[in-house]
Amino acid sequence: MQVCRTIEELRALRAQLPAPVGFVPTMGYLHAGHLELVRRSLLENAATVVSIFVNPTQFDRKDDLEAYPRDVPRDIRLLEEAGVDVVFVPEVEEMYPNGFATTVHVSGMTDVLEGAHRPGHFDGVATVVSKLFNIVQPDRAYFGQKDAQQVVVVKRLVADLNFPIEIRTVPIVREHDGLALSSRNVRLSPHGRAIAPTLYQALHAAEEAWVQGERRAEVLRNLVEERLAQEPAIRVEYVSLADPETLQELSGEIEAGLLSLAAWIENVRLIDNIPLPPSKE
Ligand code: PAF
Repeated sequence: MQVCRTIEELRALRAQLPAPVGFVPTMGYLHAGHLELVRRSLLENAATVVSIFVNPTQFDRKDDLEAYPRDVPRDIRLLEEAGVDVVFVPEVEEMYPNGFATTVHVSGMTDVLEGAHRPGHFDGVATVVSKLFNIVQPDRAYFGQKDAQQVVVVKRLVADLNFPIEIRTVPIVREHDGLALSSRNVRLSPHGRAIAPTLYQALHAAEEAWVQGERRAEVLRNLVEERLAQEPAIRVEYVSLADPETLQELSGEIEAGLLSLAAWIENVRLIDNIPLPPSKE
């Protein structure tokens, strides 16, 4: 496995890789969710490139950026064991040199949900993902369903800017108790960790109702809110039931939806979601 830190080195290595090339962009501190993206890319491509870059422009709060967990030597070990071909670990100055002045903005769908609560977040994501796509030039790129809105935004970006890249989405990997894997989970105290599965349980309660035939958006959303309200240590930021493509909030009888939430436990902000798929018939 080759580890490179500059765009020039990455380009030279990329030119030698057999096609198709799969790409997994990450911010490091890898967990089983990231490794699932890597596994899929290794399975479906002749070569796999992974980036590790904690992108400062997508953090709306300085304390969150500073507290974001990092362990690059461990990440590199895990990626080597997995069989990755190239790892790109640039410094901030390599990605954003003095004078950097461009922002990629995807409009509409970035104003809601995460975008409404984390100003500028998706401008940071869209800009860094565009840069990484131009640098790595993969045939396919892999993103986790955990960041459902990010997937929608990246697909729009790829279509609008004509990146010749196929976006593949990989389902959420969960702990045995349902908690969605996240690099932020390590910041929870034992007490916080113990109540964190409530987030999944709340979504799952609505999913069960959906499977039983409940189609009223307000009822489904309420089921999530009621379960979360039973746990006073959870501070809910939003519960949403939205159109899976436009991310506009739904009401009345629905045919399909994306149920998602963001909540604080202690000083850690967690997100999770469950798709409510259309009926088969
Ligand atoms: O999902 C993430 O880890 C980040 O948003 C990404 C896609 C690596 C861009 O920094």
